[in-house]
Amino acid sequence: MSLGALPGFRDFYPAELAERAHIVAAWRDVARRYGFVEYDGPPLEPLELYTRKSGDEIVGQLYNFTDKGGRDVALRPEMTPTLARMVAARANALRKPVRWFSVPQLFRYERQQRGRLREHFQLNMDIIGEPDVTADAELLAAAIDIMRALGLGRDDVVARVSDRRLLQAYLGACGVAASSFGGVFAVIDKIDRQPAAVSADKLDALGLSASARDAVLRIAGATFDTVRQALDGTAHTRLTDDFERYLRALDALGVGDSVRVDLSIVRGLAYYTGIVFELFDAKGELRAICGGGRYDTLLQSLGGVDLPALGFGMGDVVLGELLRARGLLAVQPAGVDVWVAFGDEGDVTSAMRVASRLRARGRSVEYALGGQKLARQLKAANAAGARQAVILAAPGAAPGEAVVRDLADGTEQRVQLDQWIGDASPAAPRSPRPGTR
Ligand code: HAM
Repeated sequence: MSLGALPGFRDFYPAELAERAHIVAAWRDVARRYGFVEYDGPPLEPLELYTRKSGDEIVGQLYNFTDKGGRDVALRPEMTPTLARMVAARANALRKPVRWFSVPQLFRYERQQRGRLREHFQLNMDIIGEPDVTADAELLAAAIDIMRALGLGRDDVVARVSDRRLLQAYLGACGVAASSFGGVFAVIDKIDRQPAAVSADKLDALGLSASARDAVLRIAGATFDTVRQALDGTAHTRLTDDFERYLRALDALGVGDSVRVDLSIVRGLAYYTGIVFELFDAKGELRAICGGGRYDTLLQSLGGVDLPALGFGMGDVVLGELLRARGLLAVQPAGVDVWVAFGDEGDVTSAMRVASRLRARGRSVEYALGGQKLARQLKAANAAGARQAVILAAPGAAPGEAVVRDLADGTEQRVQLDQWIGDASPAAPRSPRPGTR
C-alpha cells in the first residue's frame, strides 16, 4: 500500500511552502491596500449549504460523507456559501458595505489535470451590501493589482468581463427563448474548451433556430458595441449604461488596459446574477487564474437577508504555474538572522545563552546542536541562509569579545558581545528570500 499523498493533494516541503507564502503575502498585501479585513469559517459544512445554490458542477465534485452523528457534511469546495451564511447571520450588526477576504483551502473531487487539483488555496475577496457597479470595478481592480504585485503586467494577464443580464438580453434580441437560457449558458461556459460542432449539436438539441444558434457560436467575438446596438431602444439600455460606467470605473482605477469585454464568460457556478469576470494568462495557455462576479440573491437563499453581493476567488495553482513559467517564483524559505558559532574548543552552553538572549530580543537564531568544528559550523550557517554569524571565543579574542561575520560578503568586525546583543533590535519579519531552485 502506498502512503504517498492522495492524487490531487500536495505535500508542501519548505521550498514549495515558501512559494505559496509568497503568493499569499501578495494576496494579503493587496487586500489590505483595498481596505479588506480577513475572516474564516469551518472547513467542514452541512452538505445542503452547497446543494442549494452552487450548481451541479460543484455538487458533482463534493467530498461529502455522513458523520458519526448522522449529519450529511462536505469539505468546503468554495467559500462563497459560508460567507453568505456568516454575513446573513449578522447582517444588521455589520458595517456595510462589508469588505472581507479569506484564504481557505478548498476541496473538489475533480479529474486531476494541469491547473486543477483536488485541493487548492483560494483568495476570496467579496463586497456585500453595495449594488453599484463601482463595487464591481473595485474588485476587478484588486484582482489585477495582485497580478501586478506579483510582477505580471498587461502583457501577461487579461481580464475577460461580461454581464449575465446583458448576455441574456442580447441572447433574447438574437431570438433565444428565455426558457433556454440555462442550457445555452452551460454551452457558452464550455465554448472554448469543446469543438464547435459539439456546441452546435447541443444548441440544436435545445431547439434554437439556426440564426440564434449561429449568434451563440459567435458570442466570444461579439463586441460591446454590437451588444449596445442590438439593445438600443429596448428596455435594456440601463444595463448597457451601467456596463459602460463599469468600464469607465476600471479606467479610473488604472486597470482598463488589462480588461476585455467577452460575453462568453458566464461562470460555471449557478448563483451569479450580473457582472462576471475571469482572469487568464494573455497567451491563453492555462485555465482561469481567477473568477468571480455578482451574486445578488445568494444571501436571500441561504440566510433570508436581501443584500447585494459580489466577489471573486483566485487559486494558487494556475497562478503558481504562470509565475513559475515567467521566472517570478524563485523564492526560498527565509533563513535565520543570526547563527551563533563557538570555537573548536568552546562549549555549546555559551552559544545557548547567547541564542536565548537574542531570541528574547526577537531575532531568529540557530546554532550547531552537537559539538562541531568551527569550519563546519560556519558551513552550516551558510547552508541555513543565515545573514550573520557571531563567533564566540574566536581565536585571539579578548574576554567579552566576539567576531560578527556578514555571511553575504564575508566581512568581519570585532564586537563587545554584551553590547552587541543589547543593540540587537527586533528584526523586521522576513519574507522568503529571492533565489533559484
Ligand atoms: P471558481 O471559478 O470555482 O469560483 O474558482 C475560482 C478560482 O479558483 C479558479 O479560477 C481557479 O483559479 C481556482 N480553482 C478552482 N477550482 C480549482 C481546482 N480544482 N484546482 C485548482 N484551482 C482551482 C469560486 O469558487 C467562487 N466561489 C469564487 C467567488 C467568490 N465568487 C464570488 N466570490
